[in-house]
Amino acid sequence: MTMYTRYASLAERSVFITGGATGIGACLVEAFVAQGSHVAFVDINREAGDALVARLAGQSQGRIEFRECDVTRIPELRAAIRELSGTCGDFTVLVNNVANDQRYDPRYLSEQAWYNSLAINLHPAFFAAQTVQPMMARQGGGVILNFSSINALSGPSKLPSYNTAKAALLGLTKSLARDFGTDKIRVNAIVPGWVITERQLNKWLTPEAEAWWMDQVCLKERLLPEDVAKLTLYLASDDARMITGQKFVVDGGRL
Ligand SMILES: NC(=O)c1ccc[n+]([C@@H]2O[C@H](COP(=O)([O-])OP(=O)(O)OC[C@H]3O[C@@H](n4cnc5c(N)ncnc54)[C@H](O)[C@@H]3O)[C@@H](O)[C@H]2O)c1
Repeated sequence: MTMYTRYASLAERSVFITGGATGIGACLVEAFVAQGSHVAFVDINREAGDALVARLAGQSQGRIEFRECDVTRIPELRAAIRELSGTCGDFTVLVNNVANDQRYDPRYLSEQAWYNSLAINLHPAFFAAQTVQPMMARQGGGVILNFSSINALSGPSKLPSYNTAKAALLGLTKSLARDFGTDKIRVNAIVPGWVITERQLNKWLTPEAEAWWMDQVCLKERLLPEDVAKLTLYLASDDARMITGQKFVVDGGRL
């Protein structure tokens, strides 16, 4: 079991996470639960979401809530945030984690597939932020964390819409940090390298790919969801109270 630094400021804080049922998102849910936060998350994967709640319910000092929600349906995303704030309280931490890294050759990517990709990888981050802003303002401040990717800066092939969305999230981070700063809302971007989740293990991690990655990085170890969760906790906590509008790379030294 991962040992996380305890941040007193995260106890009883209300945290909303998109795409929290599996992968890095599930690790984030677990990490905030370990802080005694009230944690709500949405995901399209009902089975995994329910299983995570069942696994963590006994360990949770705060509330843990899951709703099945397709985040591309913005009215449903907004409704889930508002409904869950009824049980968890006004959200003062939002983690925009959801994504889909489907590969496409840009020569043949259809108009619909381009829009669909941005509908998952970009649009929910803005509309979730817009929905929590009044809650955070009412509570005297808050934290929004946008999950970008080193792909936004290195541009690997066959990911044109994903890379574009991840770069756009850096611009969104800067914009919202400026406009929401007057409400004491901090907005930062987390920029992971290749994080070895179950999905990455099953879908993309071949011995050749891993050998290539290890050749690129300074630290010759696998980057794990917990490594990203630790940075997320710090940025969400009051220890980071004067940090906003920034991007934080956690990639073992790939860039
Ligand atoms: N894993 C990596 O190597 C890596 C690298 C850089 C950045 N990131 C970023 O970190 C974040 C998490 O990555 P991950 O690897 O855990 O992602 P993932 O694809 O494994 O998981 C994303 C979660 O989002 C959910 N989801 C997908 N579409 C949805 C939809 N329409 N509505 C609601 N939920 C939906 C999935 O069910 C899943 O639980 C993402 O923003 C990703 O871009 C990951």
